[in-house]
Amino acid sequence: MTGRILVTGASGQLGSRIIHHLLATSGVEASAIVAGSRDPAKLADLAGKGVETRRIDFDDAASLTEGFAGIERLLIVSTDALDGAGTRLRQHLAAVAAAKQAGVGRIFYTSMPGADDSLITFAPDHLGTEEAIKASGIAHTIFRNGWYMENLFMALPQALASGQWYSAAGDGKLAHIARDDIARAIAAGLASPSAENVTYTLTGDTARTTDEIAALVSDVTGKPLAVVHVSDAELAQGMEHAGVPAPFIPTLVSFDANTREGKIAMVTDDARTLSGAGLTSLEDFLEASKAALLG
Ligand SMILES: NC(=O)c1ccc[n+]([C@@H]2O[C@H](COP(=O)([O-])OP(=O)(O)OC[C@H]3O[C@@H](n4cnc5c(N)ncnc54)[C@H](OP(=O)(O)O)[C@@H]3O)[C@@H](O)[C@H]2O)c1
Repeated sequence: MTGRILVTGASGQLGSRIIHHLLATSGVEASAIVAGSRDPAKLADLAGKGVETRRIDFDDAASLTEGFAGIERLLIVSTDALDGAGTRLRQHLAAVAAAKQAGVGRIFYTSMPGADDSLITFAPDHLGTEEAIKASGIAHTIFRNGWYMENLFMALPQALASGQWYSAAGDGKLAHIARDDIARAIAAGLASPSAENVTYTLTGDTARTTDEIAALVSDVTGKPLAVVHVSDAELAQGMEHAGVPAPFIPTLVSFDANTREGKIAMVTDDARTLSGAGLTSLEDFLEASKAALLG
């Protein structure tokens, strides 16, 4: 392996699993990996394994100049700044500009499926970042990460408690993928990048409607779960009554609208092909999560 790999957001759930798989699955030497975080103190375990840690904060240009020095492959993990004020796109553009300045050899980025044709409120952050990476002239690999199976925890515990799952997703399908399967695929892509500029879409094996997912959940937990199909406006109203903070409601509703319109129904082999490993099935994920789902 030539050059060093930097993973930003290394203390996050995805970033930490990517570094785990670089070391444990892809066989990359610890000395070839740099873990970046706003708070390197959170990376003490990695430092103990011989991984260099650096402070990387996309809001702090100086941390990027120092942090990207000597890096050949840079994975920009998209941030969680969903304030609706363009913060996340600004953060990512700062990272791309600093990568150019530092002479990074290849940029990798965690995007979302169909970033260019999506109803999700934050899709423009991802599209804008993809466009900036392409315009930079730097070799690149885009990972369009499908929705995590773990996202089901946003709705299912409450739905199981009441027996009713309110959804505006209609008959739209979605192929959830375990976060760890995405991490393994990304680690493999970082360790052995394509020679070309490439975009992967990392999805699960099977696309299902909300009713099909509810039936599986019911089978696994032994609890009845009915999907109550509502409109976007009714879903938003229900969330408001349930105390969901107002700024989050349009984004949450846009997830269902996007699914309903078939914009996240794609199923690809990309995750399996990249990692060379099988994917966790939704049945197995639900079985392993049963206790947590039932609270
Ligand atoms: N596909 C999906 O279903 C799905 C679901 C949720 C989120 N996402 C996206 O995927 C990303 C990774 O997911 P996750 O599960 O790991 O989420 P997470 O645990 O919430 O991680 C958030 C990440 O954002 C990083 N970050 C926040 N502010 C930053 C800044 N100013 N500069 C640099 N990094 C910053 C954090 O890094 P440090 O704290 O280490 O600095 C952390 O890695 C999320 O941030 C989000 O963009 C995708």
